[in-house]
Amino acid sequence: MRQTKIYGHRGSMGITPENTLLSFRHALDSGVDGIELDVQLTKDGEVVVIHDETIDRTTDGTGYVKEYTLNEIQQFSAGIKFSHFELFDRNVWEKERIPTLAEVLELIAPYQIELNIELKTNIFAYEGIEEKVLAIVNQFDYADKIIYSSFHLPSILRLKKLEPSAKIAWLVLYELSRPSEYVESLELEGLHLHKDLLLQGDVQSADDFSIRVWTANDEKEIEQLLSTNHVEAIMTDFPKEAISLRHAIKV
Ligand code: G3P
Ligand code: MG
Repeated sequence: MRQTKIYGHRGSMGITPENTLLSFRHALDSGVDGIELDVQLTKDGEVVVIHDETIDRTTDGTGYVKEYTLNEIQQFSAGIKFSHFELFDRNVWEKERIPTLAEVLELIAPYQIELNIELKTNIFAYEGIEEKVLAIVNQFDYADKIIYSSFHLPSILRLKKLEPSAKIAWLVLYELSRPSEYVESLELEGLHLHKDLLLQGDVQSADDFSIRVWTANDEKEIEQLLSTNHVEAIMTDFPKEAISLRHAIKV
């Protein structure tokens, strides 16, 4: 049986500022098999790594990502708002910035881990984001380690049309009837399912596509998902703990 992979969700967002280089470094140090991150576009068309459409929740600034240039958006601290975390270190964390996708690829390239790039195109269209993401990935020798996902199906289909070898996965929150028909007809590499669809539902085993699950943080739930033999990867905010758990139960 294949070992279920552990992906750090937005890095190690349970203990470090999400979607920052600091958080990705922490996930890498924990020995993750992969990292999940979210991308949006700035006013000047730069691909930046941030979950929300606005910078209010995660930085000391306010406003939409799409209304700032890269230079402007990187003036704000992406770490200072996380002073409630045990590891908080003001002098270090306040210097964290919203990273570009290229900066993250540069950081992870030596590790050759998998990277799940989630295109946050379900609220704003971010016209051209698919081309831009592919162009950045092409600057690195990393394409085969990348899985592109989105809640907004047209976005990943567009990306696949631009780059037929790209692995695309659809983010699904609700139960699908006959999931393999979606996979086959849309040429998906996999489905990224909300954890409850597996924990409470009855997802058919998937020999012909990958199932990755988000976002599991509870020990019992992770244990249950690890013992399900058709989960390719578990995304978690606490990758270090999940890796220890996997080691302890030897699956
Ligand atoms: O990609 C899995 C997961 O990140 C999707 O939800 O809102 O955390 O980006 P969200
Ligand atoms: Mg995400």
